Amino acid sequence: MTSILLPRPDDWHLHLRDDEMLSAVAGYSAKRFRHALVMPNLRPPITSSADAAAYRARILDQVDEGSSFVPLMTLFASSELDLEDLRSGSESGVVKAVKFYPPGATTNSDQAKGSLGSLHELMEVLVELDMRLLVHAESTDPDVDVFDREAKFLDRQLAPVCERYPELKVTVEHVSTAAGVDFVNAHPQVVASVTPHHLARERGDLLASGMKPDLFCKPVINSASDRAALVAAATGGDSGFFLGTDSAPHTSTAKYAPTVAAGIFNAAYGLEVVAEVFHRAGAIDNLGAFVSVNGAAVYGYEPSDEQIRLTRVESRDVGESKLVTAIGDVVMFGVEEAAHWIVEPV
Ligand code: DOR
Ligand code: ZN
Repeated sequence: MTSILLPRPDDWHLHLRDDEMLSAVAGYSAKRFRHALVMPNLRPPITSSADAAAYRARILDQVDEGSSFVPLMTLFASSELDLEDLRSGSESGVVKAVKFYPPGATTNSDQAKGSLGSLHELMEVLVELDMRLLVHAESTDPDVDVFDREAKFLDRQLAPVCERYPELKVTVEHVSTAAGVDFVNAHPQVVASVTPHHLARERGDLLASGMKPDLFCKPVINSASDRAALVAAATGGDSGFFLGTDSAPHTSTAKYAPTVAAGIFNAAYGLEVVAEVFHRAGAIDNLGAFVSVNGAAVYGYEPSDEQIRLTRVESRDVGESKLVTAIGDVVMFGVEEAAHWIVEPV
């Protein structure tokens, strides 16, 4: 029987939403993870250190007392960011990073203003503050095929920025292709978060036997060979790749609609999904590096002193497969994998 101990993991890419949804989902992340890097794509987005501090307080209000969960906050990049405020948010510790979304690429990114290449003053301040730029790497050029969006964005938009600002530290979020893995490997200033769903599914799962809204996310889950490249990068122990669940809850009303909302709720079972990927790859000994060590080092932390135990079993009754919230149900990703794993604090 496989049983391993790991330092308490961190989630380096998380959507917690607000109001009723925040209150329904926050406990799942707080139970599992030490830190979570919280994405700013609310409506309106988080664009100031005061917004970030207030949002952090609303998150902590939803977490059990005694929990050691720490939300780390990000700002939504735009040409209108107040750079003095960014400096003070960095100094006070309330702002950990800035996230760039291409306008129109994903949930609420229609609020973004300006291309990556136009944000020169912001890049200069990020370098000065030694603060990471988080990038949603998708070209929204209508001439680019949806499965090539990541590769084209990296080539056309991120590569010139890396060249111009070699000291800028960049995280390619939810890397989803072999081209993305190659890009990270070719650029020492760039690392990547990787999601459970991009590691565990391929586009055939999304599209081949009836389209599955619950597997629709951005960037869209790509080909089998892309998935293989992600699994090799994540399981190989390379310090430039680490877990970001990109847990992004939407109600089933929003998912089963003519225009399907992008996002997968995997705060509940994402860790089990990743454990199963590592188990099947024969790389369970590298799981701790991926979920508890590599990302922590990138964001300036030692691994947690707390530990969790993961034990693989033939099968167990998972119980919950759907989250019931005040605004509708949310389908949980990874129930099949969760049936093989018991996760417990030590
Ligand atoms: O699938 C996604 N959902 N990708 C993103 O980049 C955003 C997220 C969300 O906020 O729903
Ligand atoms: Zn995301």
